[in-house]
Parts: sequence; C-alpha cells; structure tokens
Amino acid sequence: MDKPTIRNEKDGSVFEQAEGDTILRAALRAGLGLSYECNSGGCGGCKFELMNGEIETQWPGAPGLGERDRKRGRHLACQCRALGPVTIKAATAPEYQPRILPRRQRARLVGTRDITHDIREFRFRSESDARFLPGQFAMLDLPGLAASRAYSLSNTANEGREWHFQIRRVLHGQGSHVLFEKLVEGDEIGLDGPYGLAYLRTGSPRDIVCVAGGSGLAPMISIARGAAEAGLLNGRKLHFFYGARTPRDVCGESMLDALDHRDGQIVYIPVVSLPGDEGGWSGEIGYVHDAVARLLPTELANYEFYFAGPPPMTQALQEMLMIGHRVPFDQIHFDRFF
Ligand SMILES: Cc1cc2nc3c(=O)[nH]c(=O)nc-3n(C[C@H](O)[C@H](O)[C@H](O)COP(=O)(O)OP(=O)(O)OC[C@H]3O[C@@H](n4cnc5c(N)ncnc54)[C@H](O)[C@@H]3O)c2cc1C
Ligand code: FES
Repeated sequence: MDKPTIRNEKDGSVFEQAEGDTILRAALRAGLGLSYECNSGGCGGCKFELMNGEIETQWPGAPGLGERDRKRGRHLACQCRALGPVTIKAATAPEYQPRILPRRQRARLVGTRDITHDIREFRFRSESDARFLPGQFAMLDLPGLAASRAYSLSNTANEGREWHFQIRRVLHGQGSHVLFEKLVEGDEIGLDGPYGLAYLRTGSPRDIVCVAGGSGLAPMISIARGAAEAGLLNGRKLHFFYGARTPRDVCGESMLDALDHRDGQIVYIPVVSLPGDEGGWSGEIGYVHDAVARLLPTELANYEFYFAGPPPMTQALQEMLMIGHRVPFDQIHFDRFF
C-alpha cells in the first residue's frame, strides 16, 4: 500500500507516513519541526487542524485535547494517523526539528536492577545503535499493549547499543505491569526514538540545576552523566535536587558519586514531603520547588534548569522560575510525565 502523503499548509512541507506511524512521528522522522512535547496524548502541544482528507484517532479521549478543541475540530498529531493523502494546519518551529532523527528498532532486555522499592532500572540492547542526547526519551512498544509508552533514558549515547530506563511501578498501570511482571531477560520489545526537547545544552556557560520528582530521576541522571562526559563538571557546579514522598523513596546519590567531577562540584539535595514520625529523617522537608528557591546560593537567573516528573511539580517549578524569579524561558528545559 502507498504511504499516505501529508501536506502542512502552515509551512508548505510535505512528508510521508510510514506504516504504524502517527502524523507527529512521520513529521519528526522526516526531520520537520512539528510542535510537540510528550508524544503521549497528555500535553496538547501537537494540536492541528484537518483541512482535507481522512484520519483515524488511536485515543479519542486523550486528555491533551479539551472540549473546546474538539468542538473546533482540532486533533492531536501524536494520536492520529492519515488514512490517505491529507492536508493539515500545524504549528512548526526550528527548535522542534530533531537533532537526531527518531527511528524504530527491536531491542532485547539484557538486565534489570532495583533502585528503590518501586523504581527499577531496565537495560535494553537494540539492533543497530543507541544514539540520543542526554535527557531524551524513547517510545516503547510492549507486548500486549495497544499504545506505546514514553520512557526517558538514564544513560548516554553509546557504542554498546544500550538504552537504560528507570521506571516506577504504577498501581494498575498496564505498561509498568508488563515491564515488572511479564518481561524476562532476552525478551524483545519495539523501541522508537529518540524524542524530546529537554536535552542537555552543553554550550551553556551557566551552572546546572537538575530537579527530579519520583520517576523523573532517569532523565536527570542522564543529564548529569552527559555533563560529566562532556567535562562540564570540572568547571561548573551541578545542583541535583531529588523530590521524594518519603525517606525510603530517596535515591540517585550513588549514581552521581560515580561521575567524573572535581571535588565539591556536585551538590545532591534530597527533599521529602512526608518525613514520618520516627524522626529518622534529618534532610530537607517540604516541596522540592520551595527547596530549589530557598537553597540555591545565587540569583536563580544565573542557572540552566532541567526538570522532570509529575505535572504538578513541573507546573510549580515553571511558575516559581518564570513568574517568581524571571528566569529566561530558554534556560528552562523540562518533561512532564503524563
Ligand atoms: C516524556 C515522558 C517521559 C517519561 N519518562 C518516564 C520515566 O523515565 N520513568 C517512568 O517511570 N515513567 C515515565 N513516564 C511515564 C510513562 O510514560 C507512563 O505514563 C507510566 O509508566 C504509566 O504507564 P502505565 O502503562 O504503567 O499506566 P497506564 O495507566 O496503563 O497508562 C498511562 C499512560 O499510557 C498512555 N495511554 C493510556 N491509554 C492510552 C490509549 N488508549 N492510547 C494511547 N496512550 C494511552 C498515556 O500516555 C498514559 O499516561 C514518562 C512520560 C512521558 C510523557
Ligand atoms: S505531544 Fe501530542 S499531546 Fe503531547
């Protein structure tokens, strides 16, 4: 069957959609900068208007589209496939153009390791290469699931073709159930990537701040590893905040200790919101965004910020940085885990 051709009226670009691809993935694979963020139906960043032709929607109830959008006939490019030639109207910008073109591969589970009681590292080896920027994510096609799931990389690009993920077990979550309960070493899955815009900016002269909430650990560890590999932690400081619910959820410090850095260049600050009554916790208490504002030693506009985690945490950080402290938008890079 011919591949459907998609024309974007907004910038005049024309691209083809390969079998199994959504309109968004087809555009990014063609190197085009169609606007997006989560690739998972949650953020609404990939909205488009259908001008002509026929499409199908794989998740009609996706939360990224509001009632008003639906009434106006808008759709999500990360959830729609063209059924024949179509014309769309979708926002594009150079910052969305992929620096590494995403591609589909098969990948085999080669190892796992528990990080906490509910976060586990999963290591996959792919067929051809592991090319991605620190902080990016991949879409995993897991056996028995109709839709793929987004997971951030925790390692950095490598010749060994390894893609490492740090994944939280979600109560009644279908994807995490397959990963934690069904997959065994040697099993194969589909892996498509890299995606994502919250990658390490090696050219920035500023000290780095990473803020991870819960399973937001993975991309922040990848950023820290990327910064160390680029030799940045000999001259610049890394302030790494980890926001956890309870003391037993705290993790990440041993991975940072292993990095190549000059003494004193990495500051690790765990913050828990529910310390418990036993009095065993002597660290920071409260919300992680408050700790960031309180504990960074100089003006917040002096730093390059990276953060990942649940939408309420990323929202609080965004507001605190942009409205409260006037940190320029191009110094703020984040992923919301829908
Ligand atoms: C950019 C990004 C990076 C992420 N990185 C990580 C990470 O490093 N570690 C981690 O633990 N989690 C990460 N997540 C969250 C992860 O993608 C899953 O949402 C989470 O693991 C729960 O998935 P589940 O299948 O277990 O739960 P479920 O409740 O079964 O599924 C939840 C997710 O699946 C998708 N979904 C559900 N139904 C449909 C449908 N009908 N069609 C299409 N999609 C559907 C949605 O994205 C939804 O958020 C990330 C999310 C995003 C967006
Ligand atoms: S990129 Fe499509 S909803 Fe987030």
